[in-house]
Amino acid sequence: MSLEVDDLRIEIGGRTVVDGVSFAVPDGGRVGLIGESGSGKSLTALAVLGLLPDAATATGSIRWNGREILGLPDRELARLRGDDIGIVFQEPRTALNPIRTVGRQIGESIRIHEGVPRREALRRAVAEAERVALPDPARIVGRYPHQLSGGQRQRVAIAMALACRPQLLIADEPTTALDVTIQAGILTLLRSLVQDAGMSLIFITHDLAVLAQVATHAVVLEHGRVVEQGAVEDLLRSPSSPVTQALLRDATATLWHPEIGRDEGDAS
Ligand SMILES: Nc1ncnc2c1ncn2[C@@H]1O[C@H](COP(=O)(O)OP(=O)(O)O)[C@@H](O)[C@H]1O
Ligand SMILES: [Mg+2]
Repeated sequence: MSLEVDDLRIEIGGRTVVDGVSFAVPDGGRVGLIGESGSGKSLTALAVLGLLPDAATATGSIRWNGREILGLPDRELARLRGDDIGIVFQEPRTALNPIRTVGRQIGESIRIHEGVPRREALRRAVAEAERVALPDPARIVGRYPHQLSGGQRQRVAIAMALACRPQLLIADEPTTALDVTIQAGILTLLRSLVQDAGMSLIFITHDLAVLAQVATHAVVLEHGRVVEQGAVEDLLRSPSSPVTQALLRDATATLWHPEIGRDEGDAS
């Protein structure tokens, strides 16, 4: 149940945008990928998901539970995304269909992955809405995305990602588009869902304070390279690279609770 990324290189249009990235996510591990915009975080995640743009070529190795998945045919990668690896993107609007009720969309994830009848899937969607702490789940499943707040929409996207009970969740800046006041609730939710289910997590952010709330291990990227990686508490205490030192300076004050970074493993 582990992911090993080894010497991953991604080229787009003759430009090397990910340059020898290596890191591992052990079973149940929570790893944060952090770096400035353009440092290669999203492309690294997309490579794991088999969703790189057509123009990109990737070399190196990505092993999922010991099996090489870099370069697998699309069909097998799609199955992997459905069964094993869930994803939450920055902007929930893009993940949601504006003309379908949220219950139908959550139910659709369940139906596709488990083949249960539509009515059963809709019933289960209520339970999934409750799991991500949406208010009044039985009623909210009948609503459309535009009738929900940004934070509620992201909860729906999380419910869809988790409906197939993935072993690994990849969240790419899931709170960046949200109001600061909403962010903390989503982070707490993600962390408790991941911990309760014993899932592994790759969490992408440019904010070290956010990372410290959900991840135990951080991989710091700059220009497509890993400049530093290690336990979050070590990075906070003694960041060795100038990049990490700058990230520490820039970490959002509003979310900054150093204790939260240190109570890993016993937060539930
Ligand atoms: N589809 C694409 N075509 C060309 N260049 C891209 C594409 N996607 C990303 N890049 C480039 O690759 C680099 C890394 O991008 P990305 O992984 O999205 O960074 P991050 O997520 O850290 O902000 C950036 O310089 C970006 O401009
Ligand atoms: Mg990105």
